[in-house]
Amino acid sequence: MAVSDQVLPSGVAARELSESDLAAAMALSQEAGWNQTAADWRLFLELGHVVGLTRSSGALIATAATLPHGGGFGWISMVLVTASERRRGLARWLLRRCMDDLIAKKLVPVLDATPAGRMVYLGLGFNDCWAMRRAVAQQVRSSSQRGAQEGATIRPIAEEDWSAIIALDTDVFGADRSRLLRRLAARLPAAALVAERHGRVVGFLLGRDGRTMNQLGPLAAGDESVAGALLSHALHTISAPLAIDLPDRHSRLGEWLSTLGFKIERPLTRMVYGRSHAFDDTARLFAIAGPELG
Ligand SMILES: CC(C)(COP(=O)(O)OP(=O)(O)OC[C@H]1O[C@@H](n2cnc3c(N)ncnc32)[C@H](O)[C@@H]1OP(=O)(O)O)[C@@H](O)C(=O)NCCC(=O)NCCS
Repeated sequence: MAVSDQVLPSGVAARELSESDLAAAMALSQEAGWNQTAADWRLFLELGHVVGLTRSSGALIATAATLPHGGGFGWISMVLVTASERRRGLARWLLRRCMDDLIAKKLVPVLDATPAGRMVYLGLGFNDCWAMRRAVAQQVRSSSQRGAQEGATIRPIAEEDWSAIIALDTDVFGADRSRLLRRLAARLPAAALVAERHGRVVGFLLGRDGRTMNQLGPLAAGDESVAGALLSHALHTISAPLAIDLPDRHSRLGEWLSTLGFKIERPLTRMVYGRSHAFDDTARLFAIAGPELG
């Protein structure tokens, strides 16, 4: 169905959001208990689009964002409806609008769904691709640092690493998102790490600060031992509370994190519109950047 065929409830209007809407947008993500900061919302304003629904009073009651990537797909996220306005079709309307936006750019819509969001997206033609869990630690127990025994050197990202990082991420994530990665590197510099083996970049980690906790990811690596070494290095320097969104298939890494004090907070599902397989390579994707970023 095209956007023009859809009707919003009376008294509700849609418009593109801008910098002046940041405080209202933050209030919505905070109401849902989410971790985004104003810098996260700004990412969507600068690299993508945010559509908002308002009441005639001007109050912002719902949002959704699109983030086009350089490959054949684009992200939909920040789907939020204030509690008092739910089950009136607002999320469904916003999703259709975002889907039309991406499809017009010849991009397949992809997203990471909370259990409540998944109920909306299933009815719109999105399919489940793979599952992940958010692991959160209020405090991280100390452990011996991994790395040397895996034959990998872990060190801060240097400017000359970026072409290898972007090549690895494009291969693993499935699209060039270099502008986003560069921004994340500035958000939590202590998490911006590469793993090097025999002079080659074999993995990288980025992270970002959040409203309630720091988040680690994306984490791409050639194998689980390199991924563990990158995480181990970061966990020694970055303060808790901390969140990591880990694909379910990497259960051994999940078990190791649980020994350090991480607990599963909630499940998330990667969903793609109109096809049953995702664009990424989860064998080498050990943590996503976050459900809102992919
Ligand atoms: C998930 C959320 C965005 C849904 O917004 P909404 O405007 O209430 O959703 P809609 O009214 O458009 O729902 C469309 C359909 O999705 C399904 N659905 C929506 N919410 C549901 C729920 N909580 N449980 C079961 N089904 C649900 C229903 O089939 C619904 O159609 P119906 O009301 O005719 O039965 C809203 O609950 C929310 O903001 N939750 C907190 C943040 C969040 O999890 N966002 C999703 C991120 S991926």
